[in-house]
Amino acid sequence: MTTYARAHTNIALIKYWGKANRKLMLPATSSISLTLNDFYTDTAVTFDPSLNDDRFMLNGEEQNPVAVSRFLDRVRHLGKISTYAQVTSLNHVPTAAGLASSASAFAALATAASRAAGLNLSPTELSRLARRGSGSATRSIFGGAVIWHRGHDDASSFAEPLAIQPSLPLRMLVVTVSAEKKAVSSRKGMANTVATSPYYDAWVASNESLIEPMITALAEDDLALIGKLTELSSMRMHAAIMAEEPPFTYFLPETLRAWQLVQEQRALGIPAFATMDAGPNVKILTTEPYVDILLTALRPVFGDRILSTRLGPDASIITKEQ
Ligand code: PMV
Repeated sequence: MTTYARAHTNIALIKYWGKANRKLMLPATSSISLTLNDFYTDTAVTFDPSLNDDRFMLNGEEQNPVAVSRFLDRVRHLGKISTYAQVTSLNHVPTAAGLASSASAFAALATAASRAAGLNLSPTELSRLARRGSGSATRSIFGGAVIWHRGHDDASSFAEPLAIQPSLPLRMLVVTVSAEKKAVSSRKGMANTVATSPYYDAWVASNESLIEPMITALAEDDLALIGKLTELSSMRMHAAIMAEEPPFTYFLPETLRAWQLVQEQRALGIPAFATMDAGPNVKILTTEPYVDILLTALRPVFGDRILSTRLGPDASIITKEQ
């Protein structure tokens, strides 16, 4: 029998960057994200006794199944089965957006594979399981505004929706600066920051101090504060990255151009705030009434390389036809 699941990507407002425990995938800090409606992964899993190996198809192309297989080993262990699986995924994340899809990918895989293995995991258990595939996937089990508690062991490191969700009509604009595969993966990148950046400890301390203020700002719909904290977390993360040995940055010239445009709009009174992950693309946080104004301001430079989305739902089991 085949099980289908869908999970949506998320963008962190307060970032995760650096592990406290690499084996258990425990992060050094808690993080807070928004799940996005328009970008998601659909994954089908079939445990098939006739297979001699796990197989993984992504967007119609056979892939090296190593990472998927390692993840499935954990599912097999939990489900007490030994059968190999066929995993078939479709990324509804426009490839041109250059958005990382590991969050939606592992959240969808955790949801589909655990059910296919006969397990009936709670959302918290799914979040812990997804964490083993990719840190950001921990948060993609849930919709809306989500916190990943860093925890101190496997049981205590999981995500959950914030108790008081923002009622603002939040929107995220994704500006594609480059659609190329990222130069340095987040896994390698964060390991190098931990190992060589003299600013790493300051990053961890300052990022953790943004968590409580962000919970309050989201609960109080304080957009100016949500935006300020978002930019602080992102820029501090990138500052720690720049100070690595050898020095490195994900910024490209057009990345700065996007930040500049956001600042210009803000000076005009438009609530717009920028954040970046392990790549050069810029995500802009705003609310629904300002989307068109921002699109008009950004289009002369970025043309149609801008997508806009509202907040998305929880990961879920779906029927094939959805
Ligand atoms: O868990 P990963 O490998 O997708 O790393 C996520 C790292 C950032 O996207 C930069 C920050 C975050 O919290 O999502």
